[in-house]
Amino acid sequence: MVVAIDGPAGAGKSTVARAAAQALGFTYLDSGAMYRAAALKLLEEGGAASERAEELEIELGDRVLAGGRDVSEAIRTPEVSEAASRIATNAKVRKALTDKQRALLAEGDWVAEGRDIGTVVAPAAEVKVYLVADPAERARRRASELGTDAETVMRDQALRDAQDEGREHSPLRAADDAVELDTTGLTVEEVVERITALVTAARG
Ligand code: CDP
Repeated sequence: MVVAIDGPAGAGKSTVARAAAQALGFTYLDSGAMYRAAALKLLEEGGAASERAEELEIELGDRVLAGGRDVSEAIRTPEVSEAASRIATNAKVRKALTDKQRALLAEGDWVAEGRDIGTVVAPAAEVKVYLVADPAERARRRASELGTDAETVMRDQALRDAQDEGREHSPLRAADDAVELDTTGLTVEEVVERITALVTAARG
């Protein structure tokens, strides 16, 4: 079974998807880590973004390994966030990373998180959730993770949202059959409970 969790930056996707995967005994797929690792590779090596994405050898787990190197922290900097969002507008980059994601999702039970899992990567996913949250709340959460001020985060976030929603290829949007969940004011446990309830219902 595939549980697709999509939504904008800071809506709580990563925390919720990881916790839901653990509660369900499913494997967690962080598709954003692939865009980030490809972006880091591009920043370090230069050249064509699509080539860096195609040659990316990534292992996702507790740590993120790219070509065998631990890049778990290096892919979380604001520079890499911005570059990831930028290369995510490139159709060839998207195809390369979507292919890798589909190969993983072909077998087993997954909670997959991203921007286009329910719409493009796994349109047949049995459960689709679209997480949203109030922009100020999203910025507050991200700022406390990064230890920076919420105003700077809010500006970067608005730029990334606009870039993700406005791009030509696979723009950020909810799948028609996704359940929209507003996480503003909800605890992680409450959101995970709603997701596990959807999985139970989908199992019939
Ligand atoms: O954690 P956060 O929501 O800030 O970002 P992320 O999920 O790690 O993704 C980083 C960037 O990759 C996003 O801004 C998107 O532009 C892009 N992305 C995408 O286009 N499609 C996905 N399935 C996942 C990420």
